[in-house]
Amino acid sequence: MRTPIIAGNWKMNNTIKEALELIEEIKIQNLNENVEAVVCTPFTALKDVKEAIKGTDIKLGAQNMHWEESGAYTGEISPMMLKEIGVDYCIIGHSERRQYFNETDETVNKKIKSALETGFLPIVCVGETLEEREAGKAEEIVKAQVINAFKDIPGNKIADIVIAYEPIWAIGTGKTASSSDADDMCGFIRKTIGEIYSENEKEIIRIQYGGSVKPSNVKELMEKSNIDGALVGGASLKGTDFVKLINF
Ligand code: G3P
Repeated sequence: MRTPIIAGNWKMNNTIKEALELIEEIKIQNLNENVEAVVCTPFTALKDVKEAIKGTDIKLGAQNMHWEESGAYTGEISPMMLKEIGVDYCIIGHSERRQYFNETDETVNKKIKSALETGFLPIVCVGETLEEREAGKAEEIVKAQVINAFKDIPGNKIADIVIAYEPIWAIGTGKTASSSDADDMCGFIRKTIGEIYSENEKEIIRIQYGGSVKPSNVKELMEKSNIDGALVGGASLKGTDFVKLINF
């Protein structure tokens, strides 16, 4: 049985004050203890949110990292800096990093290895553009992203990695993929993991869906056998909505 995981990707939102207000909105609610809840905050709020969630089951995630331990990488954040704060997860390879900040399959692979070596868990984003889907290339694109991301990653690490399937055309658009399409692609990703490793890893890997997940559609998505959770943008910025997602 794979533990469901609902992660909020706050993106470039929330000052420290706003972050702490949002965490308080979430903390005062009864959260489903059978669902893993993660908040992925901007770098600037990580330390304060880590303190604010102490004593709760809420996990902390970063939204990006560099793969090197240190060096002349102006503006970057090293894995050790995240480890020192005590993050549990790090989102890696989000489509917005790929689109705007030159993230590649190769850097995604390096970051996954670095996160695992440092001691926190990667949430690895994959997904196709609308053009790629309309050209019938969605599976080809996503399969290549998965194969390249997992290059030289040992099978015994699969339980520590979450894959987030985020069709780019569904991110922030309100156009959620249908639950059956989302399940089909998550099933295809699961099958690809089985081809890279074995049936065991195929069953172990947790796969989230991301792209306009809301309280109105989360239950239908979570009922799908290949979907183990959600990576949520907009709806994670409202405490009451995020709690509804956790308590789907
Ligand atoms: O990483 C999650 C994000 O890309 C989805 O955003 O606003 O469509 O839930 P949103």
